[in-house]
Amino acid sequence: MNKHAEPALLGGPKVRDKPYPSYNPIGEEEIKRAHAVLETGMLSGFVGRGNDQFYGGPAVRELEQTFCERFSVKHAVSMNSATSALHAAVVAAGIGPGDEVLVPPYTMSASATAIALAGATPVFVDIEADTFCIEPAKAEAALTPNTRGIMTVNLFGMASDLSTLRNLCDEKKLTLIEDNAQAPAAQFGNHFTGTLGDIGVFSLNRHKTMQVGEGGVAVTNDPHLAERLHLIRNHGEAVIADTGQTEHDDIIGCNYRLTEMQAAMAVPQLNRLDELNGHRIEMAEKLNVRLSTIEFLKTPAIRANCSHVYYLYPMLYDEGQLGISRDTFVAAMKAEGVHASNYTYPVHLMPLFIKDNRNHGSCPVTEDIEFNRIVVTNICRPPLGDSEIDEFVHAVEKITVAAPALLQWQNSQDS
Ligand SMILES: Cc1ncc(COP(=O)(O)O)c(C=O)c1O
Repeated sequence: MNKHAEPALLGGPKVRDKPYPSYNPIGEEEIKRAHAVLETGMLSGFVGRGNDQFYGGPAVRELEQTFCERFSVKHAVSMNSATSALHAAVVAAGIGPGDEVLVPPYTMSASATAIALAGATPVFVDIEADTFCIEPAKAEAALTPNTRGIMTVNLFGMASDLSTLRNLCDEKKLTLIEDNAQAPAAQFGNHFTGTLGDIGVFSLNRHKTMQVGEGGVAVTNDPHLAERLHLIRNHGEAVIADTGQTEHDDIIGCNYRLTEMQAAMAVPQLNRLDELNGHRIEMAEKLNVRLSTIEFLKTPAIRANCSHVYYLYPMLYDEGQLGISRDTFVAAMKAEGVHASNYTYPVHLMPLFIKDNRNHGSCPVTEDIEFNRIVVTNICRPPLGDSEIDEFVHAVEKITVAAPALLQWQNSQDS
């Protein structure tokens, strides 16, 4: 490959001229299991009443048991999405109107809307500049008498500072919820992410490492929280009426039930999680080596004693080194046909939360990273391999050589 070729953004040939193959981790076992459920005709085993069917059908229970064994937790409650499970987690913790929950704004919006859906107030706390996770010291500074919990997000596939957050929550009697949608089986010391919080939430949506289209699982070691999660998942008010319980009569139940077919497919996905993560880790380690000499792209920082499972591969771009803006760099990478992008619009600046523009500048690290510095790529996912890494690195090299011409292009766009 010729790194002196004209960049595609300026009319030259693309490094990659075909779309990437789509992500499809569904194997024969998943198909067999889905088929077996279809043949029974029983696509859901749930009934929203106070009897045995309240806990769902055989596949749902098998999935939950498999989660408990895999992550060494006492309870797992599957739901129809991680968004549902995050909302259920906030409500299960007894958090509601008048309460505040600290949350980083650098995340998928559901981490914050789960709090708002419960009637509580998300309070946005800025992130660590190298790991992109909530900064514990800033969380401590944001506490008020109304703070009831912290929703931490293990972003891109790596743990947030879970021990510091755990200690803070224990000391201040707050609930710690881990949004672990992006980091299944990542480790924080000897613990799996998702298991240090009072509740941890996993996602099974179509983009995630384990996927069944849509789905989520909440895990906890607390039987009281587990029971509340079950009630929120499945019409709790009717169940409470049936059983004559007096506890949990505050609960408005939802229908957050996972179908039998999704649960059945999720079991082999979970059994293959090490293999699915392994592919991403191997690809990321190759990228780390290949990008180690590229001064304007910093490869992912890994927290001490933690592992990264690379749901996405995040890099920090340094405009000062290459001379062109992050946006021009990303546009040039996209033009080459390789995957590179910013991450997401910071949640505290979304119209739902911005409130008279008062949030602008309130989380400066997040804003600088998202608007000027982050570059993420999803090329570590299966079935992509060495040739996609070669293409990515080649595109970076082409853009490096062409930076002066790209700067002219950038200036022409600005004027
Ligand atoms: C960090 C994070 N939290 C929550 C979610 C929501 O997951 P789901 O689509 O399963 O509701 C996602 C999904 O993209 C996510 O990345």
